[in-house]
Amino acid sequence: MLRTVFGKQTFRGLATAAQKQPNIKKFQIYRWNPDTPEVEAALKTYEIDLNECGPMVLDALLKIKNEQDATLTFRRSCREGICGSCAMNIGGRNTLACLCKIDKNDKSDLKIYPLPHMYVVRDLVPDLTHFYQQYKSIQPWLQRKDHPADGRENLQSIADRAKLDGLYECILCACCSTSCPSYWWNQAQYLGPAVLMQAYRWIIDSRDQATKMRKEMLQNSMSLYRCHTIMNCTNTCPKGLNPGRAIAEIKKSMAFD
Ligand code: SF4
Ligand code: SF4
Ligand code: FES
Repeated sequence: MLRTVFGKQTFRGLATAAQKQPNIKKFQIYRWNPDTPEVEAALKTYEIDLNECGPMVLDALLKIKNEQDATLTFRRSCREGICGSCAMNIGGRNTLACLCKIDKNDKSDLKIYPLPHMYVVRDLVPDLTHFYQQYKSIQPWLQRKDHPADGRENLQSIADRAKLDGLYECILCACCSTSCPSYWWNQAQYLGPAVLMQAYRWIIDSRDQATKMRKEMLQNSMSLYRCHTIMNCTNTCPKGLNPGRAIAEIKKSMAFD
């Protein structure tokens, strides 16, 4: 009996001591400030005790900003993978900081950069102006010449509605487009996987009547056909979507028109 009690106490004592051991991880974060253009962009290192930090990379960024360096700049809003604003390059991969778990057993430094091959507004904030202009260019809204006689919804069969699954969930975070080598080198004209997947989402919507015009807009050498099916886009999508397949489906439907 005495042994058991003693054993429990010892175990509890060890657990408390282990909890007190700090688990320090270094984060190397890209910093650049447009107000001091003479200072070159560089990685700045911050140390965090993971025992006192939430589990996600966004938690670490917020902790750094709140407790160590209020000048660190990044976008975030929902913290649950819905708004798409915290997209960045973490440990060499484009993903959402709020969905990216910190590996507590990995002792190496974690490097964090803004999304690659984009102009930087400041620190981890990319300039998405061109990306959104491209999105606008595909006219991402329902287009019809006629409207239901009863003035209500445009109905769709369950099977036709199912065709939009895996497409409508896109949160336009741009992780896929900024991981695509074709987009890196041709983004002035190539629409990139995120925007093309949304183009496809409207092309196959049974309620939309602008399909011909939508396909004609893509019928040139740059907007669509710069995709060489490298599939970086699908591999990186933090929502598990498949923009590479959507692009292949557009090409297929254009070929049989
Ligand atoms: S499949 Fe196409 S869009 Fe996706 S990464 Fe490759 S080239 Fe880019
Ligand atoms: S397809 Fe995925 S990676 Fe690309 S913008 Fe949409 S959610 Fe982001
Ligand atoms: S904060 Fe909204 S997706 Fe990460």
